[in-house]
Amino acid sequence: MCGIVGFIGKSPEKVLLDGLKRLEYRGYDSAGIALKNGDDIELFKAKGEIRNLEKIVPDKTSAEIGVGHTRWATHGKPDEINAHPHVSSDKKWAIVHNGIIENYLAIKAKLNAFGYEFYSETDTETVAKLLEYYQKKGYDEITSLNKTVNALKGSYALGIINKNSDCLYFAKNKSPLFLAKSGDEIMLASDIICFKGFAKEYYPLVDGIFGFASKEKIVFYDNLGETEIKPLPLDLGEYDNLNTYKHFMIKEIYDTKTAIKNIIEYYGVKENCDRLADYDLSEITKVKFVGCGTAYHACLLGANMLFEKTGIDATSYVASEFRYGNLSLDNKTMVVLVSQSGETADTLAAFERAKESGAFTVGIVNVEYSTLSKKVDVSFPIKAGVEIAVASTKAFSSQLCVLNIFAGIVARKLFKSVDPLADVRALYEKFDYGNVNDFKLLADVLRYNDKLFMIGRGDDYCVAQEACLKIKETSYINSNTYYAGELKHGFLALIDEQSYVVVFATNKEIFGKTVCNAEEAKARGGKIILFTCFDLDASDADNFYYIIKTKELGNSLQAVLNIIPWQIIAYYISVNKGINPDKPRNLAKSVTVE
Ligand code: M6R
Repeated sequence: MCGIVGFIGKSPEKVLLDGLKRLEYRGYDSAGIALKNGDDIELFKAKGEIRNLEKIVPDKTSAEIGVGHTRWATHGKPDEINAHPHVSSDKKWAIVHNGIIENYLAIKAKLNAFGYEFYSETDTETVAKLLEYYQKKGYDEITSLNKTVNALKGSYALGIINKNSDCLYFAKNKSPLFLAKSGDEIMLASDIICFKGFAKEYYPLVDGIFGFASKEKIVFYDNLGETEIKPLPLDLGEYDNLNTYKHFMIKEIYDTKTAIKNIIEYYGVKENCDRLADYDLSEITKVKFVGCGTAYHACLLGANMLFEKTGIDATSYVASEFRYGNLSLDNKTMVVLVSQSGETADTLAAFERAKESGAFTVGIVNVEYSTLSKKVDVSFPIKAGVEIAVASTKAFSSQLCVLNIFAGIVARKLFKSVDPLADVRALYEKFDYGNVNDFKLLADVLRYNDKLFMIGRGDDYCVAQEACLKIKETSYINSNTYYAGELKHGFLALIDEQSYVVVFATNKEIFGKTVCNAEEAKARGGKIILFTCFDLDASDADNFYYIIKTKELGNSLQAVLNIIPWQIIAYYISVNKGINPDKPRNLAKSVTVE
């Protein structure tokens, strides 16, 4: 979603544009920067891609401070007027903002009454005008900022400059923001990937922090006065190196094996695997798994794994439903929140609800410096490394591995003598990426199709849901998933000669039943694609329009071997259709608004 970069130092125009490019993957529809040049603040804004902004920003300026932003429209359409930075009426303040100011209409009404006029539809503009309001009352810059943030309700990460000051001001509440220093240069950013190559450590700002940075010093405040934040080492690995790959999506799919290895190494260390040692789980009567999109699909499979290994009643919820749903939650409930980014607004809101009810909270999170990771009682990192493509791939597989380990850890606490890593080790031994040529051929067939159905039972159904989501979001194909047994209860009416039906059948016990359901679709003209891990004799194989094979594993991490082919197929359909799979239309990597 929106991205923030701020900079004090040489050539801020270059550093800001470079930082904004690094944030592109998060999704945006306009961009802008503000530079303090002498006693003036110059604004540059453009709709659409950053290269449009690049065209209007001068190659060289004498500015030494600035802020930049990528905006994913929430309040007001994506145009140059609504793009950030926003400025105060006296043009002294320029600000960039991530998050949502919930009481912006009330602030606007108050400022209107004092004669302030507004040019944009954004909530952010009210913050710029509020800073001006307080400064005009005689407060200095930092006091004006303190008074402004005290008046705000909602979420915000703010990067601010003032034309009479050489400082970069900042504030954070429920939206990520980080700061880094290198010599006398300062960088502010909503994602630490902006710091790669700039600094070796960074300051993780926490909610309620505001302050300023200059060439000489950084000062942090909370509601009690000046405070300290300890820097953390910056370790991002080679995440941004595409090597020979054309897109991050395919590179990240092929990162999966390394991610599994990292998981085995990390959880192979006793203290990492003993994360629940200090907690008494004997009173836990139910477990609720919560996530959005791909993470929700991981929850469905995670709940099955936990039930299978422990017999504990486990159910899954989409986070936006968990937040407002009619649920029974108490201190005997464990809520497991799954999120790649750890910043998804719906998942964070679900966490708040779980916490208020006294539930024990667990996070299965990729971004270890994220809000969710820090807030839950116990966090299990998934060790997938930075994921750039909007379509989550390696993170999904890693979530499944860590959910499996988590289930094993709970089982070991309850029944002893369980090796929580056994399934993941077996997966690693068998892991491969399958017959990519077969996948490419199928991708070629499916690219022209808009009637794609996927059916399965149990875990196969959950993986089919994720396969379907991958194809939808990267290829814009109208594909839908159904329980195999539900076919005859309604959606069979949709099947005709133009329909492709993918049958997920990787569970031996119900293989026959699932394939029978596919026959029902075939009898109505549907072309049946079998997805299985079993060998078929030639006469059986003739029943199918196409067969995609994966390996048989024999434990619940079969789901990982099952999703990889569909991630690869989704990728090639997308590329065949001329879509950039890393940045599908209308989507953002991290959805930080409700
Ligand atoms: O960062 P999170 O895992 O919390 O994100 C959840 C979803 O927004 C995310 O999985 C989304 O569905 C992806 N685009 C799927 O590929």
